[in-house]
Amino acid sequence: MSATSQPVAFITGASSGIGRASARALVKAGYRVFGTSRGAAPHEVNDGVRMIACDVTSEASVAQAVALAHAEAGRIDLLVNNAGYALSGAAEESSIGQVQAMFDTNFLGVVRVTNAVLPIMRAQRGGRILNIGSVIGLIPGPFGAYYGASKHAIEGYSESLDHEVRPFGIRVAVIEPWATKTSIEANSPQGDRPVAAYAQTLARYRTAFDAAMATGDTAEDVAATVLAAARDRRPRLRYPSGKAAKQTAFARRFLPRSVFDRTLRKQFNIA
Ligand SMILES: NC(=O)c1ccc[n+]([C@@H]2O[C@H](COP(=O)([O-])OP(=O)(O)OC[C@H]3O[C@@H](n4cnc5c(N)ncnc54)[C@H](OP(=O)(O)O)[C@@H]3O)[C@@H](O)[C@H]2O)c1
Repeated sequence: MSATSQPVAFITGASSGIGRASARALVKAGYRVFGTSRGAAPHEVNDGVRMIACDVTSEASVAQAVALAHAEAGRIDLLVNNAGYALSGAAEESSIGQVQAMFDTNFLGVVRVTNAVLPIMRAQRGGRILNIGSVIGLIPGPFGAYYGASKHAIEGYSESLDHEVRPFGIRVAVIEPWATKTSIEANSPQGDRPVAAYAQTLARYRTAFDAAMATGDTAEDVAATVLAAARDRRPRLRYPSGKAAKQTAFARRFLPRSVFDRTLRKQFNIA
């Protein structure tokens, strides 16, 4: 990117929550921003964000959206892979179809968009890719095992990819939010084959989870982390977002496993 050119960002899931707040923050910071949503209307512009229709579960849809942004702006400097949803309930309560569908968005969606953008970044010999993971990508997520697995997959994928693309001037990082007040719960399904044996523990867990959400971060808090990571001159692999995320990442790294295990069970009221 030349010193005078306006940086160009492409962000998935920009219709709501963290994606929308991040897209707005990037516009404010001077980026030309393309945001995706499955329901975007042709030529839609929201708060300075050029919205493009895109379903990250479709390779053709992703290819079309990335090609459109590239044709209009001539480059893509920043990719934020944000589109995703949660899936809650005991692991035994989800059908394989439900798990596959979630991985198709949360993990393969990241892979599809990244693969569509990488040739552009390699050709321009620079770029940054920020994948929205979660603290649940670092620690166990009881009653969210598949969501947690999809975020652990993003961690592993991002760290490996970062080594591969560094020679092209491209860096990859994971943003790790803690509980963030968005529409994610309303937009996310429960297990599709309930098992009564889990009902009591699950109810206790939900109460604890709702309490964590009530004191959670805002989408704007996470957007500030996205912006900082986008502009960081010394890019890091991981950006835990907010105090609780930083504390949890620290505890996961340094507490003995048995102490961490006990604390987690207590916090989620499943001990
Ligand atoms: N909220 C939290 O507590 C939290 C914590 C950690 C990490 N995260 C992560 O943050 C990201 C954003 O979540 P959020 O909390 O902001 O949720 P949200 O408000 O429900 O927003 C989700 C966004 O993802 C998009 N999306 C969903 N499926 C899609 C698909 N197949 N193709 C394209 N776009 C799709 C939605 O766009 P359309 O429906 O318009 O297509 C929407 O813009 C997710 O990756 C989530 O896992 C959230």
